[in-house]
Amino acid sequence: MKTVRVGIIGGGLMGREVASAFARWVALTDISVTPVLHAVADVSPPVLEWFRRVPGVALLTTDYHEMLADPQVDVVYVAVPHHLHEAIYLDVLKAGKDLLAEKPFGIDLDAARRIGQAGTDTGRFVRCSSEFPFFPGPQKVIAGVKSGAFGRLLEIRSGFHHSSDLDPTKPANWKRSSRSCGEIGVMGDLGMHTLHVPLRLGWKPARLYAQLQKGVPERPGPDGKPVPCDTWDNAMLHTWIDTDGNAVPLRLEMKRLAPGATNSWFLEVLGTEGGMRYSTAEPKTLHTFRRNGGSQVWERTDLGFGMPFATVTGGIFEPGFPDIMQQMWAAYLAERDGTLGDRFGCVRPEEAIASHEVFAAALRSHAGQTVESV
Ligand SMILES: NC(=O)c1ccc[n+]([C@@H]2O[C@H](COP(=O)([O-])OP(=O)(O)OC[C@H]3O[C@@H](n4cnc5c(N)ncnc54)[C@H](O)[C@@H]3O)[C@@H](O)[C@H]2O)c1
Repeated sequence: MKTVRVGIIGGGLMGREVASAFARWVALTDISVTPVLHAVADVSPPVLEWFRRVPGVALLTTDYHEMLADPQVDVVYVAVPHHLHEAIYLDVLKAGKDLLAEKPFGIDLDAARRIGQAGTDTGRFVRCSSEFPFFPGPQKVIAGVKSGAFGRLLEIRSGFHHSSDLDPTKPANWKRSSRSCGEIGVMGDLGMHTLHVPLRLGWKPARLYAQLQKGVPERPGPDGKPVPCDTWDNAMLHTWIDTDGNAVPLRLEMKRLAPGATNSWFLEVLGTEGGMRYSTAEPKTLHTFRRNGGSQVWERTDLGFGMPFATVTGGIFEPGFPDIMQQMWAAYLAERDGTLGDRFGCVRPEEAIASHEVFAAALRSHAGQTVESV
């Protein structure tokens, strides 16, 4: 078993999630690489304090440059607000470390392109975070598409809905301001999640019409007084992909204001002969469509724990968010190690840049109420 020493920059929501995925690495049974959380950098000392409970962490620092100077760190995972992505990702790469970058891979298209170029120039192994396709259901949808069993594609929906912003009294944070979240707003938060599978299947939108929507214009700030919230909350991108000589509608749905949805990622692919539909709202359920003579048949399959990387967990049990975070890391480390094989891989830099090309076209489309080429 090879050991890879990982440093985390940004120990908030996602930094802690990654530490927990590493802590139960024994669950994985067919991987030859083990991550060891070696160092954590965060500007907030109370945030760093939590990581004292993780055995083996050698360095806790408020200055990430100190971590980057440590020759023992092989890979750095960065989970900080979007306006800090570019500077920190570039520093990581200049320090000679490999990078697992949180989405959206820079605050806008220009930043994403500069990060991608730095990855090429330094020759480091760079991938971007997107974990939902590692659920067994999306893996079945991907296999279904590749099998050709769906016939001629008719339509695709890929989306991510949550409702955490429906409460207008929820305090403002960095995700509510264009300065720190980006002008792309909800597309920066949820868009990479909706595009990972389509882009990997070769379905890059060629043109699109975007509907962007704002919800709550002000929220309580740090002192309780209202502060403006200027980011887009919901985005519906009506796109066309060109595949096998056909133009096929691909709808990308990203919503922070989706009544009834806590955190639902979904993917639906329909063709003339068959199709599949999966949502994390029913994490172990796969819906499969087939034509049976003159009948239209939807079947419901109760999925088990069929993860890309095998685990000790019983095959009939249910997977959840911590499992897919761990699977994404397994894919990152295996691909870096050259042992991914034909398993699904993390978002490549060119895919992250392509997602920003879609978001930039969406901003133009909404502003002009026009159909835009991507
Ligand atoms: N993959 C996913 O499912 C998922 C989910 C949520 C967020 N994210 C992404 O993760 C990133 C972070 O989001 P979050 O929800 O964890 O945010 P968060 O606010 O919970 O955590 C961010 C952390 O970064 C720290 N920080 C700020 N400036 C820093 C600096 N200069 N050096 C070191 N640390 C610094 C903050 O103190 C904070 O602890 C974003 O890119 C976000 O889009 C991904």
